[in-house]
Amino acid sequence: MAHLAHYREAHPLPFVFTHWINLVSMLLLIFSGFYIHFPFFPGFMGIARGLHMFCALVFVANCLARVVLAFIVKSAPAGGTRKLEPDYKSFLPQKDNRHQLGAWIKYYLFMKKEHPLGGKYGVPQKITYVLIPVLILIMAFTGLCLWAPTANIGPFAAFNELMGSIMITRIVHFFLMFVFILFMFLHAYLANVEGLAPSKMMFGWKEHGGLVYDPELHNIVGEDDLGEEEHK
Ligand code: HEM
Ligand code: HEM
Repeated sequence: MAHLAHYREAHPLPFVFTHWINLVSMLLLIFSGFYIHFPFFPGFMGIARGLHMFCALVFVANCLARVVLAFIVKSAPAGGTRKLEPDYKSFLPQKDNRHQLGAWIKYYLFMKKEHPLGGKYGVPQKITYVLIPVLILIMAFTGLCLWAPTANIGPFAAFNELMGSIMITRIVHFFLMFVFILFMFLHAYLANVEGLAPSKMMFGWKEHGGLVYDPELHNIVGEDDLGEEEHK
């Protein structure tokens, strides 16, 4: 099946930056987190802890920036169009996605070969992206419950007490890491399963030709090869 064109308007430059920061800080948090849990080589604990807290700060600040920018920056609400709307609308239910949840789930369960065409993000994708900041907040909270300077104050101490001991908080923080790891594997797989064009856009801001979509008509209205024919 031909795909919708990938235009830069779908992922404006600030979001290419925030996405890169997500990837790098996530990988460093997982690496340093595994090391803190199980130091697989000696003499690195001080650096691992410092690196973990630094990346945690960057990750949380980046998440906050991404959410605020969603209300400031405009982006295309679907692939295949350069028309702009406030970016946050891409994460909410859109007319283009109406009645598609069932079809998306069937596609994810390998019961259907093709996914519905519609908004920029599929229905389960929107739900996941909205839940990610919630998970980041829970990680930040349980992280501060573990951090020596904050573990014994206010809500952090109260949570450790509720859990029974700081060791249980540690286990909660550790197991939540696997939710991120699972998300990352699924996300990277689904992003690339139909070709590398979406990742080239998200990481390299590179456009890719394809079908043109009109979000007002909710239909395919043509094809755009980005002028490649003329250069042949
Ligand atoms: C978002 C803010 C976060 C904060 C403030 C935070 C903070 C912390 C702190 C203070 C520790 C304990 C370090 C020590 O024992 O000295 C820790 C451990 C750990 N963190 Fe984080 N963290 C955050 C996010 C993450 C994320 C996103 C991951 C992975 C996806 C992660 C994975 C881990 C792991 C695996 C450990 C080791 C737990 C154990 O000892 O079993 N953390 N974190
Ligand atoms: C191997 C790593 C990754 C790959 C290949 C990848 C790929 C992509 C692609 C292709 C998109 C655009 C999807 C579309 O337009 O339908 C996207 C969006 C997104 N990705 Fe990733 N990603 C990776 C890692 C991550 C990580 C680690 C996070 C967060 C912790 C993340 C969070 C997001 C979010 C929230 C979006 C929505 C768009 C935005 O925020 O601007 N990704 N990713």
